[in-house]
This record gives sequence, structure tokens and C-alpha cells, in this order.
Amino acid sequence: MSYNYEEIVPYLLHWFDYNARVLPWRENPKPYYVWISEIMLQQTRVEAVRGYFDRFIEAIPDIEALATVDDEKLMKLWEGLGYYNRARNLKKAAQVIMSDYLGELPSDYHELLKLPGIGVYTAGAIASIAYRQPEVAIDGNVLRIATRIAGSFDDITKESVKKELWKDFKRIVPKDRPGDFNQSLMDLGAMVCIPNGKPHCEQCPIMHLCQAFHQDLVMQIPVKPPKKTRRIEKRTVLLMEYQGRYLLHQRENKGLLAGLWELPTIEEKLTQSKLRKVLKEWEIEDYQVQPLGKAKHVFTHLEWHMEGYHIKLKAIPALFINQSSYVWASKEELESIYALPSAFSAFTRELL
Ligand code: ADE
Repeated sequence: MSYNYEEIVPYLLHWFDYNARVLPWRENPKPYYVWISEIMLQQTRVEAVRGYFDRFIEAIPDIEALATVDDEKLMKLWEGLGYYNRARNLKKAAQVIMSDYLGELPSDYHELLKLPGIGVYTAGAIASIAYRQPEVAIDGNVLRIATRIAGSFDDITKESVKKELWKDFKRIVPKDRPGDFNQSLMDLGAMVCIPNGKPHCEQCPIMHLCQAFHQDLVMQIPVKPPKKTRRIEKRTVLLMEYQGRYLLHQRENKGLLAGLWELPTIEEKLTQSKLRKVLKEWEIEDYQVQPLGKAKHVFTHLEWHMEGYHIKLKAIPALFINQSSYVWASKEELESIYALPSAFSAFTRELL
């Protein structure tokens, strides 16, 4: 159902003037910086992105450098951020920009949409923030704020609800400050009209326009169907050490964490005695085992429930020699070269 949100605009802009978060990509909203930040901010909170953004820009300062960056270096810069295809798509898009757009990130919403990794939200964010185009960027935060303002029980996970809101906001986005308007909603959603727990309505610049506030419905809105439960995979993760080097395995080039490095893993949970049997089958005899405890890692549709063991080897096992998908990495190489997803950090914490 269509709703007239027009009245919220001046209040949001005024609030943003005094309350906008100070963020590195806002100080100098160069299109390249806005693009990188928006890709990092997909599925990732601002606080987690801050450090990554500065490091990334320092290592890869422009589109030309991104188009030719070494893949291993790119993955290392993304290590821990998750959703690694975002980084691969950045490089692909940079190559397209170099070949088809004279090295300049396009300013037009529809041209932006053609680039790998850029969907409607990100295209709207970049066009409005970097190029002052009157575009909108609708995500879960904006849907939450809008349904609260309208007092709407619409299911915000429905594409039709998002489309309607997109149209409603396209009508009201201020032509002189589209980027500030979109970012005021992002900041309000992150700091005031928050997703989990009680929102801080007393701090809200549009409280007086909010139906959910007036009708005491802020905890009932937004409406979302319950999340599907995630599949659980049990795993035994091995930190295999030989003379100060650690065995890493490169994952397949497709699927989850494609092409990234991992600690060798057995796809079931093993007790120490079962593990000893497996090691025997691998003809590994001379070693010490130290349990590293349990760890859990949550992906979008999947959880890994892991049991870790540190295995100190006295001899290098024949099984892993001359296999190109395995390397023995020193601590320094682990820190500087190989991208190990944060799923494994519970077991490498002591090393790094
Ligand atoms: N989330 C996504 N894009 C953002 C931005 N530009 N500022 C703050 N939070 C965001």
C-alpha cells in the first residue's frame, strides 16, 4: 500500500546535519571510495568495516590498481569480512570499468546496475552519495523505519513491499541532497530505530510522525516471517604443525569460501581416540595431540560446529607431499599471504 512519507524529509536532513556518523568514506566521497564502502557494507556492520576500508584503500588506491590486483592479495585484504565473492566481483567490475567506461565508475543508476556485485540497493547508494543523483537505497533498515512510520503490518521480506516503498521514496527523495537523505535513514536505522531490542524513540527526529510510536507498536513492527533454521555440519579441524610451519589446504574453486585457504578438516566430529585412528590411516605415527576445544561459525544458511586439535608432528607426513592444494606456511606467511576465513580463527588465535 502506498503511503505519503513526504513530511519525514526535512526532519531527517536536519537530524543528519547534527548526528551523521563520521566515517572515512564520507569525509571524501570520491566515487571509488563510496563504491568500495558500499560493497563492504553489504551484509556487514559499519563498525566491522572501518578498519578494512582504510587498509583496502591504502593497498589498492584506485580502480586501475583494483583491475590488476593479485587475487591472493585481494583475498588477504578481505580476510575476515566474509562473503568473499564481493571482493572477486569488485575486481571484475574494475576490469569492466577500465575497458568499457574509460576507467571512471559510471554515475548512472542503470549503468551501475550492469556491473558485477552491484544490485539495486548499491546502485542507488552510489548514484545518490557519490553523484547526487535522485536515487533511493532501500534495505532492511529503511523498510523497518518506513513500516514503523506508516504503522504497517506488511511483511518486509516480500519483494512487492520493497518495490512499493522504492516508488514511495523515489517520489520524496530531495533533489538537492539525495545522498544525505539515504544516509540519514541508514544512520537512523543503525543508531535510533534499531532492529533488535527497543528502539530509542525518545531520540528520534520523526517520532511525532510515527504511527508505530503513537500506537505502541514499535515491538510488533516490522513484521517478518520466522527465519528458516540453518543446516548444521560437524567438523574436526586440524592445526598440523611441523617445525614451526602449519599445514593449509586450498578449498575448491566453487561453492562456500571458494578458493580460500583452510585448516585441514575432517567432515565429522572426532574424539581424540577416533582422531588417532584416522591419523594412523594417514600413516602419521609420531606426534603429540592437544585439544583446542570447540568453536561454532555461522554462515547465512549453514553452521559449522567444530572440534579443534593441535597436532605437533615429528616428521612430515608423506600424504601431503607434492600435493598442490596443500602448503606448509610459517606464522609470518599466515599473517601476510594466506587468507584464512574467520571460521578458523578460534584455532589459530594463539599463533597470530
Ligand atoms: N550502510 C550501507 N551503506 C551505508 C552508508 N553509506 N553509511 C552508513 N551505513 C551504511
